[in-house]
Amino acid sequence: MASKLRILIVDPIHIKLRNYMEKNFIVTIKHPITQQELIDCIKKYDVLILRSGAQVSSKFIEQAKHLRAIIRAGTGVDNIDLQSLRETDILFYNTPSTNSRAVAELSFGLIHCLFRHIKHASTEIEANIWNKKLLMGFELTNKSLGLIGFGSIGQEIARIAKGYDMQVSCTVSHYTAERAADLKTKGITLFDNLDVLMAFNDILVVCCPYIESTKNLLNKNNLCYLQPTSILINVARGGVVSEQDLYRSLVNGDIYGAASDVFEREGQFSPLFTLDNFIGTPHIGAMTNESQEKISDLIIQFLEEKILK
Ligand code: MLT
Repeated sequence: MASKLRILIVDPIHIKLRNYMEKNFIVTIKHPITQQELIDCIKKYDVLILRSGAQVSSKFIEQAKHLRAIIRAGTGVDNIDLQSLRETDILFYNTPSTNSRAVAELSFGLIHCLFRHIKHASTEIEANIWNKKLLMGFELTNKSLGLIGFGSIGQEIARIAKGYDMQVSCTVSHYTAERAADLKTKGITLFDNLDVLMAFNDILVVCCPYIESTKNLLNKNNLCYLQPTSILINVARGGVVSEQDLYRSLVNGDIYGAASDVFEREGQFSPLFTLDNFIGTPHIGAMTNESQEKISDLIIQFLEEKILK
């Protein structure tokens, strides 16, 4: 019988996938792992499974002498040097759209937290402070919601927003009149201008991929278009919004509040954490049982068809 392949897992995965792995592979789980540790140990493995906690860089690929497959358990590929990978025989697999619902629902969780002061109310009640009269909030019905990015996550957010009777608009990387007309039939306005989208909406959700053209996309030059009553939610990637400029907008009261599930330097302190009108979560967008189970099923199918056959 052929000996089992060695698999390295460097991010949290669902128990279903872990059980499958342990049955079929020699499994090593290392997280957190530093970039140098990953580069130093990868020559021992046949398959790597990661999410957003590690980088597949060209330096890493040079050392991945026996690697047959890299599995990105999720959607984003901003941590993968796809160009260098294409020059090798290493198979690459990711699971686009599997966590769109999870990320969309988290976006609404963050919106409600900001509009209903849930973080503040909870902190106060833990200290037995009952400040109901100071906790007047806002409802979502008839509010305007602007989506920066209209891929699978943006579309899921729009579907939920329609259920709240919100007015939905968006921007996409390539505006066309045909797309605008098509979205109009679905009750969604497509703007060809980000500044207008920002000025027009009560709630802005950043849900675009992190690519060259979206690096620092939101910065002081356009954050100034937001209203003092507006909120900004980032469920995309940290580098899409300038944290320094967002911090200044929040401190100056130029916007009402902001929430982010993603950060420029994840795992490290951000000055944003000190602000009352900011809510942060540690990149939990995809952390639902349902989404991780879907991801597990697809990865198991990939391994069965491409690696174990
Ligand atoms: C994704 O891009 O799919 C998410 O960021 C997944 C994750 O939590 O790593």
